[in-house]
Amino acid sequence: MNFYSPEVFISEEDIAIRVQTLGNAITKDFANEELVVICVLKGAFVFCSDLIKKINLPLRIEFLSASSYGDGTVSSGVLKMQMDVSCSLEGRNVLLVEDIVDTGLTISEIVKHIENHNPKSVRVASLLYKPEKLKHSVTIDYLAFEIEDRFVVGYGLDYAGRFRELPYLGVLNAGH
Ligand code: IMP
Repeated sequence: MNFYSPEVFISEEDIAIRVQTLGNAITKDFANEELVVICVLKGAFVFCSDLIKKINLPLRIEFLSASSYGDGTVSSGVLKMQMDVSCSLEGRNVLLVEDIVDTGLTISEIVKHIENHNPKSVRVASLLYKPEKLKHSVTIDYLAFEIEDRFVVGYGLDYAGRFRELPYLGVLNAGH
């Protein structure tokens, strides 16, 4: 273990297998339809960029930024919207791509916000889900991994802005 390498929690290979499986399921579920994929920044950017390459449908990619966390590991409980989508969602199929559902606050608030745009449908894809922490009701339609309550980094997820570039999901130990 060194300063730059958190311990591997879920390997790059295991992530790739789940991303392919989710891509196949999304492709099947939306056959012959168009999809607006909304990447929830910043944490979902790596997952989303891999996932869209496994979806064989006409896509439009949008970005949204909202957070309930500051620089720490505990949710502030208040959602701040920093950037919204730039196209009309009216009558369109929307797939929200999130990094992790922890308390569920972030994604449940984002779903409500998107539903106000009168889309045809809204579905949620999440890389991770921590059921022990869930406080807000949320449906995850496409989930890569359910995990125990640990703070994970890598593959887009950060701790105080660090570790997003790791190709795997890792856990921090003493020294980080
Ligand atoms: P929620 O609103 O409590 O569901 O938190 C969701 C957001 O918290 C995610 O989009 C992440 O940005 C952040 N988050 C929650 N748990 C972790 C973690 O273990 N590692 C990194 N970020 C996390």
